[in-house]
Amino acid sequence: MKHIAILGSTGSIGKNTLSVVGTHADEFKIVGLAANRDVDTLEQQIRQYRPALVALNEPTAASQLRERIRDINCTHVLAGTEGLQAVATMPQASQVLDGMGGSAGLLPTLAAINAGKDIAFVNKEVMVMAGPLVNAAVQANGVNLIPIDGEMSAIFQCLEGARDQQADIHRLLITASGGPFRTTPKETLYSVTPQQALRHPNWKMGQKITIDSATMMNKGLEVIEAKWLFDIELSKIDIVVHPESIVHSMVEWTDGSTLAQLGPTDMRIMIQYALTYPRRLSIPVPRLDLMEARTLHFEPVDFEKFPCLSLAYTAAEVGGTLPVVLSSADEVVVEAFLDTCIGFMDIPAILERVMDAHEVITDPTLPDILEVDRWAKATAHSIIKK
Ligand SMILES: NC(=O)c1ccc[n+]([C@@H]2O[C@H](COP(=O)([O-])OP(=O)(O)OC[C@H]3O[C@@H](n4cnc5c(N)ncnc54)[C@H](OP(=O)(O)O)[C@@H]3O)[C@@H](O)[C@H]2O)c1
Repeated sequence: MKHIAILGSTGSIGKNTLSVVGTHADEFKIVGLAANRDVDTLEQQIRQYRPALVALNEPTAASQLRERIRDINCTHVLAGTEGLQAVATMPQASQVLDGMGGSAGLLPTLAAINAGKDIAFVNKEVMVMAGPLVNAAVQANGVNLIPIDGEMSAIFQCLEGARDQQADIHRLLITASGGPFRTTPKETLYSVTPQQALRHPNWKMGQKITIDSATMMNKGLEVIEAKWLFDIELSKIDIVVHPESIVHSMVEWTDGSTLAQLGPTDMRIMIQYALTYPRRLSIPVPRLDLMEARTLHFEPVDFEKFPCLSLAYTAAEVGGTLPVVLSSADEVVVEAFLDTCIGFMDIPAILERVMDAHEVITDPTLPDILEVDRWAKATAHSIIKK
């Protein structure tokens, strides 16, 4: 039986992971859970899964949780960054699933890797901020880093049996649904609301990634993530818009053959694969019906309409701390858009200003990255305020 700790258990990925665990209670045991402040959901999860350790980042929420579960003796509650890192490194866990999202996941993820845990990995922001450091830690500790994000999992699966044959890869083709505004004229994007942007055509996800899908920033972050995850040059990574989201991504080889991974739009399949890799288990989700889908469409991506994509490519090309600036400032501007403080097209405009104001550190250390994360968020906040 595999013992698992989940960072971000109260979010969309976390809940889907617990659904997979619930389906295969004979395969998995939950030993640790962590989240930010959602006391209600975490209490329910504790009552159902009885983990040994849980943590909430917000200390007042952790105190509240301690009161709520006084009748449960087997679960210990911790708070703050130390609490998150304790869950990430707990000796009882052999695999840690990082479903936290955002820069907050960086230190717990590195702590888990350095504690020798295999990682089921979905937090693209961590890879964007610190890909070289994550890869070095994975190598030094000999752990597995298995992607969950649909496109990354698809490429990981297409590379099965050929993981060290980068030279034979002609290109990676990352598919993109195009989001809710694929066919919306650019002029209209200036006035779209958060409600409209949150209506993703194919996937049900947390708010940050759903807005990133609407701006196409999500695809830009994935390009940077893929570069580090698969150790591949940027010039060999392309994006192709595929509105049906049935082909989750592809690998084109030098001999002209292309491998694709197809499936229904249900994250539980990728989550389960990351937990059981290299085995496959049955899972009660609707299966892909190609007779129903019938036609698959592919189209080029519109860089002019979605400037976040060009910003992401610039960040990837320049490298160093520029991807940190992009990712960390994006967390702030997405929140500001959701709070209706800024408009949809202000998102790329503000990000560009923050990136322009940054002096890139070429080969950043972890303290450099943490400082640039703080700087980028503060700078984005101050531009929004003005
Ligand atoms: N959702 C998907 O289908 C999907 C697909 C592909 C990739 N991803 C990636 O998966 C990650 C998570 O996405 P999501 O959609 O699951 O997000 P979400 O629904 O917003 O959940 C985020 C989770 O992280 C926790 N969290 C946030 N900030 C935290 C902090 N400072 N300290 C501790 N915990 C914190 C939240 O806790 P609270 O609930 O207490 O706030 C929640 O449990 C992102 O990197 C996203 O890009 C998601």
